[in-house]
Amino acid sequence: MSDIPFNSDVERTKSSPRGVRVWDLPVRIFHWGLVLAVTITLVTGFLAPEWRLDIHVWAGYAIALLVTFRLLWGLYGSRHARFASFVYSPKKTIEHIKGVLRGKSAHYSGHNPAGAVMVFALLVVLATLTVSGIIILGGQENLGPAAGFIPFSTGVETVSIHRLVAYGLLFLIAAHVIGMLVESHISRENLARAMITGRKQDAASQPIIMPNATINSRALVIVVIVGLTGGGAYAIMSATPASGIVKFSPDDTYASECGDCHYAYNPSLLPRNSWQGIMAGLDDHFGEDASLDSETANSILAYLNKYSSEAWDSEAANNLRIVSVKNPLSITATAYWRRRHGEIDKKVFEQSNIGSKGNCVACHRDADSGRFDDAAIFIPAPPVPPKT
Ligand code: HEC
Ligand code: HEC
Repeated sequence: MSDIPFNSDVERTKSSPRGVRVWDLPVRIFHWGLVLAVTITLVTGFLAPEWRLDIHVWAGYAIALLVTFRLLWGLYGSRHARFASFVYSPKKTIEHIKGVLRGKSAHYSGHNPAGAVMVFALLVVLATLTVSGIIILGGQENLGPAAGFIPFSTGVETVSIHRLVAYGLLFLIAAHVIGMLVESHISRENLARAMITGRKQDAASQPIIMPNATINSRALVIVVIVGLTGGGAYAIMSATPASGIVKFSPDDTYASECGDCHYAYNPSLLPRNSWQGIMAGLDDHFGEDASLDSETANSILAYLNKYSSEAWDSEAANNLRIVSVKNPLSITATAYWRRRHGEIDKKVFEQSNIGSKGNCVACHRDADSGRFDDAAIFIPAPPVPPKT
C-alpha cells in the first residue's frame, strides 16, 4: 500500500487529476442528509415555539433512520465506511492529535483518528437524542411510538437530559468543523469538498473498495431484517393507545346544558374539587344564573367527576390540575394557562370567530378529545369585514 508514491506533485497530477475516490455515495448522502436534519432539529428545538414540534419530530425521525443506516453501513459498507477501518488505539489517537497541534498530520485515506472519535461520539449523541426525544414525545405529548407506556412525569423529567445532550451536540459540531478546518489547512486538502465529491487529491489515498456481491447480498438480508423489525416495532408501538388520554363518550346532557353559553369544556381541564365547586354554585355562576334541577346537576357532576383531570395523564390535565388559589373554578385563571397564552394579543380572543379566552375549540381543533396536541393549534385569521 505504501508503494504508492507519497507527496509527489508530479505523480499526483499524473496519476489522477481528479483525485482518488475515498467516500462512497451512501456515505456522502448520509453525511449531508444528517447535516440538514440536525440543522432542522437544532433550529426548531432551540428557537421555534413548541407548537412547531411536528417539524422537530419529523427531522428527528430522519436522524434515527440515517443513524440506523450508518450503523449498518459501518459493518457492511465500502472500505473507508467500515468502522473496522477507523478504530484506532488511544495511543495512536493521542499521537495524531499531538501531531496536529504541532502542525503536522500523517495521511489517512479515510477517517483520521480524531475524525474517527468524532464519528463515534456523534453517533452515540444522536442515538441518545432520538431515544430521549421519543420518551419525551410519548410521555409529555402522548404521541409517537412510546405514547402507550411512558408516563407524563417521565417525559417531563427527560427534557433536561435531552437538552443537555443537545448542548453536547452543539459542542461536538463546533469541534468537528474546527477540526476539519485545521486538518484541511495542515494537509492542504479541502476535506469538506472531499465529502461532496468523494475524492481526495492526496496521492497516498486508497480508493474505495465496494463490498463484493456475496457480502452485498448478506448486507441486503440484514437491512431487510432490521427494517422489518424496526418498522414492525414502530407500527405495533404506535398502535398502542396513548396511556395519558382517556377514551370516553361525551355526555349529551352535559353538552346541551353546559354548552349553551360557552364551549362545553373537556372534563380533563379541571380537577374534581373544581367541578364540584362549579356544580354547587350554579345559581351564581361567574355572575350568571345557570341553575339546573338536582337530577340533571347530579348526572352532570357524576360525568365530570369520572373524567376530571385526575383520570388523565395528558399535558393539559397535568398542568391545569394546579388551579389558581384566588379563582379555583376557572381554567383560564391558572398560572399555566396564562403562561401558555401570554403571547397572544387580547384582540385575538375578541375576534368574532373566537369570542373569548374560554372558547378553546376555536384554536384547539382537538379540544374535545382532551389531547391539546401542539400540531392541532390553529388561530383563525380575523374575519374580513364585508365591503360597503
Ligand atoms: C347562562 C350561561 C352559562 C351556562 C348555562 C353555563 N355557564 Fe359556565 N360560564 C358562564 C360565564 C359567563 C362564564 C365566565 C366567562 C367565560 O369564561 O366565558 C363561565 C365560565 C365557566 C368556566 C370557567 C372557564 C374559564 O374561562 O376558565 C367553567 C369551567 C364553566 N363555566 C363550566 C360550566 C359548566 C360545567 C356548566 C354546566 C353545568 C356551565 N358552565 C354552564 C356562563 C354559563
Ligand atoms: C386564540 C386561540 C386560543 C384559544 C382560544 C385557546 N388557546 Fe390554548 N393555545 C393557543 C396557542 C397558540 C398555544 C401555543 C402557545 C405556545 O406554545 O407558544 C396554546 C397552548 C395551549 C396548551 C399547551 C399545549 C401543548 O401541548 O403545549 C394548552 C394545554 C392549551 N393551550 C389549553 C387551552 C384551553 C384549555 C383553552 C380554553 C380554555 C385554550 N387553550 C384556548 C391558542 C389558544
